[in-house]
Amino acid sequence: MTQLTPQLRYLPSAQQQALWLENVSIQQLASQVATPFYCYSKAALLSNIHACKAAFEPENIHIHYAMKANSNLSLLRIIAEQGLGVDIVSIGEMRRALSAGFKAQDIVFSGVGKTTAELAEAVLAGVGQFNLESKEELAVLITIADKYQQLVSALIRVNPEVTVDTHKNITTGAKGNKFGVNFSDVLPMLETAEHSPFLKIKGLAMHIGSQIHTTQPYLDAIAKIQRLINELKIQGYLLTQLDLGGGFGIQYKDYQQLTRNTEQQEQQEQQEQQEQHYLAFSDFSNAIKSALAHWQGRISIEPGRSLMADIGVMVCEITYIKESRPTSFVVLNAAMNDLMRPALYQATHALIPVQSPSSSLQTKYDVVGPICESTDTFSKSASLPTDLAAGDLMCFLYTGAYCAVMSNSYNSRPIAAEVLVDDAQAHVIRQAITQDDLMAFEQPSALKLF
Ligand code: LLP
Repeated sequence: MTQLTPQLRYLPSAQQQALWLENVSIQQLASQVATPFYCYSKAALLSNIHACKAAFEPENIHIHYAMKANSNLSLLRIIAEQGLGVDIVSIGEMRRALSAGFKAQDIVFSGVGKTTAELAEAVLAGVGQFNLESKEELAVLITIADKYQQLVSALIRVNPEVTVDTHKNITTGAKGNKFGVNFSDVLPMLETAEHSPFLKIKGLAMHIGSQIHTTQPYLDAIAKIQRLINELKIQGYLLTQLDLGGGFGIQYKDYQQLTRNTEQQEQQEQQEQQEQHYLAFSDFSNAIKSALAHWQGRISIEPGRSLMADIGVMVCEITYIKESRPTSFVVLNAAMNDLMRPALYQATHALIPVQSPSSSLQTKYDVVGPICESTDTFSKSASLPTDLAAGDLMCFLYTGAYCAVMSNSYNSRPIAAEVLVDDAQAHVIRQAITQDDLMAFEQPSALKLF
């Protein structure tokens, strides 16, 4: 038996070792659900939630799951049942959160471009916290709060201008990013809010990026924010809430790291501890504890990826092994529309065969999808088992976060189904969205305006 990710392992099958998620055979699932499809483990999700709560709740740090990472209703229901709050960035996400059982009071509404209609709907629903991203947004929110005479709590998201070592497309707290306000805008915003009997600014928020693997940038940002809070106190403004955002990096192991034998595994683990490429919940909570030892107010965080990424796989099939020179290709039936992260962020998701390979021989392939774009490449020069063949089932790992949610129907491809595994049971938690479904929205009769 080889353990790969928390609930994913190779178990002996009739002829070969085969992949199981909890007590469900991936092969059996693929005989019932068309590939590509996403598949998540409930036990892995619960274990991530418990680890997160164990690290933060004793420190009285409130957890709001950033649902943009994966907003499937069945998964949201599990998270709501565990008592977490939620971070949303659109009214669509708010409707999902409420329908999944989150209380409006436990919702944080983030996002740089909330419209008047979205803000009004959220105010009327009783959303607990609005993270303001501009003085312009503040003006709109004050108008709405005053119009409906509803008490509204807001935090101002600042841009702490710190350097973060992550992919350039997922930094959000560096100079010039569209997110947050300059420090010098905070005082005028507090002064403006004083004129509203209904809108109360209670604190500051930050979110400096995603897939961050050290505490240092957070500590740099917190130090700057604490200085600002002290200055504001001198001006007569007492801020009592801090929202530190999400961004905790996870370890995306590659095929080689996952399939090493025990001795190699131990060596690797030692090496990983030296150059850690993920941020453990406990490391982050310890860092906050010391950085904010004297802070009396409320602290919250907004993790997304770290709760979700390793709970899921995407199952697909090899359409062709295309022998070519100088590069041979594994052509999959999954594409960048199903899994965009490699095309958008040059991210690598380990790809492993559902049947464990019979020999350890490996060949280098470029792994691609069928979409008519060169960016539809999952990895270049990946080492994969030599005995792969057309028709083999394959799994992309760590696809629980920012994968299904970012899928689209480019090249008129369906949107993949999602399945949830719970011990030996499996449920389709989102059916595939087919071409017939999509074409139904394009019937000329339904589109006549005049
Ligand atoms: N809070 C706010 C305001 C955010 O914008 C985000 C993510 C989070 C929390 C959660 O961050 P996390 O803990 O998941 O890192 N699509 C990209 C990631 C974009 C993240 C956007 N904001 C990816 O696939 O890597």
